[in-house]
Amino acid sequence: MKSIPAVCWAFASLQPLAAALTIAEINGNKFISQYSGQTVTNVTGLLVAKGPNGIWIRSTTPDNDPATSEGIYVFSNTVGANLTVGDIVTLDGRVQEYRSNANYIYLTEISSPRNIRIQSSGNTVSPLVIGQDTISPPTVQYSSLDGGDIYNLPNAAANISAVNPVLDPTNYGLDFWESLCGELVTVRNPRAIKVPNSYGDTWVVGDWAVTGTNAHGGVTMSDKDSNPEVIIIGSPLDGTNNPKGSKMGDQFEDITGVVTQAYGFYAILPLTAIKTTVPASAAADPSPFTSRKHCKAITVGSYNVENLAPTSAHLPKVAGHIVDYLKTPDLIFIQEVQDDSGATNNGVVSANKTLTTLVDAIKALSNVTYAFTNIDPVANQDGGQEGGNIRVAYLYRPDVIDLYKPNPGTALDATQVTPRNGKCSKAPMLSFNPGRIDPTNDAWTRSRKPLAAAWKAKGARKPFYTVNVHWSSKGGGTSLHGDMRPPVNGAVESRLKQANVTGSFIAQIMAIDPEANVIAAGDFNEFSFVKPMSDFSAISKMVDLDEAAGLPIAERYTYAYDMNAQALDHMYVSPALAKNKPEFHHIHVNSWAADADVVSDHDPSIALFDLCGH
Ligand SMILES: *[C@@H]1O[C@H](CO)[C@@H](O)[C@H](O)[C@H]1NC(C)=O
Ligand SMILES: *[C@@H]1O[C@H](CO)[C@@H](O)[C@H](O)[C@H]1NC(C)=O
Ligand SMILES: *[C@@H]1O[C@H](CO)[C@@H](O)[C@H](O)[C@H]1NC(C)=O
Ligand SMILES: *[C@@H]1O[C@H](CO)[C@@H](O)[C@H](O)[C@H]1NC(C)=O
Ligand SMILES: *[C@@H]1O[C@H](CO)[C@@H](O)[C@H](O)[C@H]1NC(C)=O
Ligand SMILES: *[C@@H]1O[C@H](CO)[C@@H](O)[C@H](O)[C@H]1NC(C)=O
Repeated sequence: MKSIPAVCWAFASLQPLAAALTIAEINGNKFISQYSGQTVTNVTGLLVAKGPNGIWIRSTTPDNDPATSEGIYVFSNTVGANLTVGDIVTLDGRVQEYRSNANYIYLTEISSPRNIRIQSSGNTVSPLVIGQDTISPPTVQYSSLDGGDIYNLPNAAANISAVNPVLDPTNYGLDFWESLCGELVTVRNPRAIKVPNSYGDTWVVGDWAVTGTNAHGGVTMSDKDSNPEVIIIGSPLDGTNNPKGSKMGDQFEDITGVVTQAYGFYAILPLTAIKTTVPASAAADPSPFTSRKHCKAITVGSYNVENLAPTSAHLPKVAGHIVDYLKTPDLIFIQEVQDDSGATNNGVVSANKTLTTLVDAIKALSNVTYAFTNIDPVANQDGGQEGGNIRVAYLYRPDVIDLYKPNPGTALDATQVTPRNGKCSKAPMLSFNPGRIDPTNDAWTRSRKPLAAAWKAKGARKPFYTVNVHWSSKGGGTSLHGDMRPPVNGAVESRLKQANVTGSFIAQIMAIDPEANVIAAGDFNEFSFVKPMSDFSAISKMVDLDEAAGLPIAERYTYAYDMNAQALDHMYVSPALAKNKPEFHHIHVNSWAADADVVSDHDPSIALFDLCGH
């Protein structure tokens, strides 16, 4: 990679460069070309692929530096008219860094090509097999600017475009894909790691080394490893369409295409549409747990049911999941229940009809009768779809568990933990049961307030306590492939406050009875190894049930997003419960399914506890 002295810069930007540059020299060994904005002449390359708006050419005089891509995109919807794959061409043009959004990484390209001359035709075009003709993609880190963890705070401390670090393709995923940008590559034995997006763009891994592979063939994120080895396959260059019905674990024919940067991600644009060879099964495992209808063995589920309204088409399917897969647990933490008028913005806040419709649907399928409890929010104060007034709710089987001295609060009542001196021990009491936790705290602005409850299980000597959460979502975040490093973890500041308020409430229960049985569950919208959750655990002394139950790290997921299978939904349990052999299982009815079969964007989870107490 050649560099020109700084004094030449102003001059060079006005004049065409005298000597022809190689494609590797134009790309350089950084993200942004040092020739950006300048005119280049007689650039020579082998035409490896044609697309609707340009061509990709590969250097005929490659260097030995793995950091400098030998391929480049020539942007023009006419340049390809008289050219054929296999032509060696020379052309003049302008080096340009392009992005369609300020949050994205730039694509280096040659625009306004002219003086296009064919030097020879019929040359062999061989794609680079990733992991064979190239090094393998790094499996752990994305960028040297992430400080070792893409979830480090503060977010957006630096921008790739501003720092323009030297590429280190061995260690950093973004550097790896940037070092191949413009190249024609082949992915051997590709496998889908989630359903495609609405355009058919599909995240895959090839036959290279992958960390975090789960038993179903997805790739699960873990502490400091968010899977930069996964790549998205974009729109085929020949105008065909990728299948929309693929799903986690499907195997495909080898994919050949060009590496680019578009819509916020490095991507491979395949020459033709993805073809499935072996579809994966989407049949999820049902709950392996059996309730004894006694405190000795109580089943507890949790499910984000995605904007559930009385008339939702997916309501009967949610009921089916609760019956067939969760096996009608004794207690269910539900999130995202809308009011009786759904998303109609009319001041209605009661969800009695929504919950009655769900309970009736479960009864019709199973003959199991659930009771429910929830607290209506103040209209349009809890975020989510306008007018929907989503909230958390509990369904419970009153033949097995019941609210302990019920005294429901209203939207603005803050339930307090108070000691009550019993005969043998002090039992924490909730002033409102169920009651919302500190609902006027600004931690909950435009977000769901957690719902605390105290319960008595059949046969138990003392109550147990639950907190049902649905913290602020990651909306407003930036892509893991984005310009800002570390990427913006949307609303992390809100979740940090929410972790403190929720955790401090539970700490009050534990202060009165360190042996209390407490379960906090729901959609925390955060990963267990990221600061809001570690804060929550430190403040509350609660333990991640994935950890307490010993689930393999790769099987800890309830959601599939971009390149990762991940856990936004959790159960956390008090030390007394954690040491009493709890069991836990995530039920992948949604994350394994093809898009048409998905009922909610989250998977439900199910646990088995001994809630008798000591
Ligand atoms: C342009 O490139 C071609 C092919 O690489 C080479 O044969 C030719 O000499 C170059 N012309 C100039 C003016 O550099
Ligand atoms: C393609 O070739 C035709 C015939 O030589 C010519 O008229 C036309 O301008 C060429 N198009 C481009 C984009 O070079
Ligand atoms: C990063 O880029 C964004 C968008 O262009 C800009 O607003 C921000 O100030 C930049 N941040 C840094 C740290 O350079
Ligand atoms: C909802 O149901 C509860 C309990 O059945 C009842 O007390 C309450 O009045 C109902 N709310 C509305 C708005 O119907
Ligand atoms: C449904 O449950 C009720 C109450 O437990 C019981 O009396 C009835 O026989 C059950 N019906 C069926 C069809 O199982
Ligand atoms: C939690 O909030 C309290 C009260 O605002 C504050 O004093 C404390 O430092 C916070 N704790 C953490 C870990 O953020």
